[in-house]
Amino acid sequence: MKRVKAIYPGSFDPPTNGHLDLIERGSKLFDELVVAILRNPEKDPLFSISDRRKMLEQMTQDFDNVAVDTFDGLMVEYAVRSEATAVLRGIRAISDYEYELQMALMNRKLQPGLETVFMMPAEKYSYLSSRLVREIAQLGGSIDCLVPELVAQKLREKMDPAHKFAAAEESEIPKKSRKRKR
Ligand code: PNS
Repeated sequence: MKRVKAIYPGSFDPPTNGHLDLIERGSKLFDELVVAILRNPEKDPLFSISDRRKMLEQMTQDFDNVAVDTFDGLMVEYAVRSEATAVLRGIRAISDYEYELQMALMNRKLQPGLETVFMMPAEKYSYLSSRLVREIAQLGGSIDCLVPELVAQKLREKMDPAHKFAAAEESEIPKKSRKRKR
């Protein structure tokens, strides 16, 4: 029987619960799914490629048929090199549709054998985007229900590096010797 390998390309800066929702749906539909992070030298991302890769690897460790990779250049060329026949993209609202349709049709023009499959994340994520998560985190708002805990932790460290050291110090002190402040 024919096996279908799909790639799920994107910036994932940072990965959100919406991305995870789509990965879970995609993992049920395709035999293999590769989350492919674009290495874009022109963008000034919040998280390095290696941070984003680590976060996505941890987020997807329970899915046997999901892998994480990075790519640069044309997405369709990466898809052909990876022997993928489908591209997964999420559509949250009508506003996404125009851009996604244009990109899907251009990709089809470049590589007719590659099929774009659109999936909708759960409604509760329809207003969620990496850009808004970055903005909320930068302005000190709570991002706890918007991203997985490991991403929230990374965002907190990014916004307040002292947080990282405070958390590390805290975990190094044995509980018994911690003095209680009165
Ligand atoms: O998460 P994003 O930023 O919406 O993802 C956009 C992405 C990475 C899928 C798109 O920019 C892309 O495929 N870039 C690679 C370069 C390319 O193939 N450009 C032609 C698109 S028609």
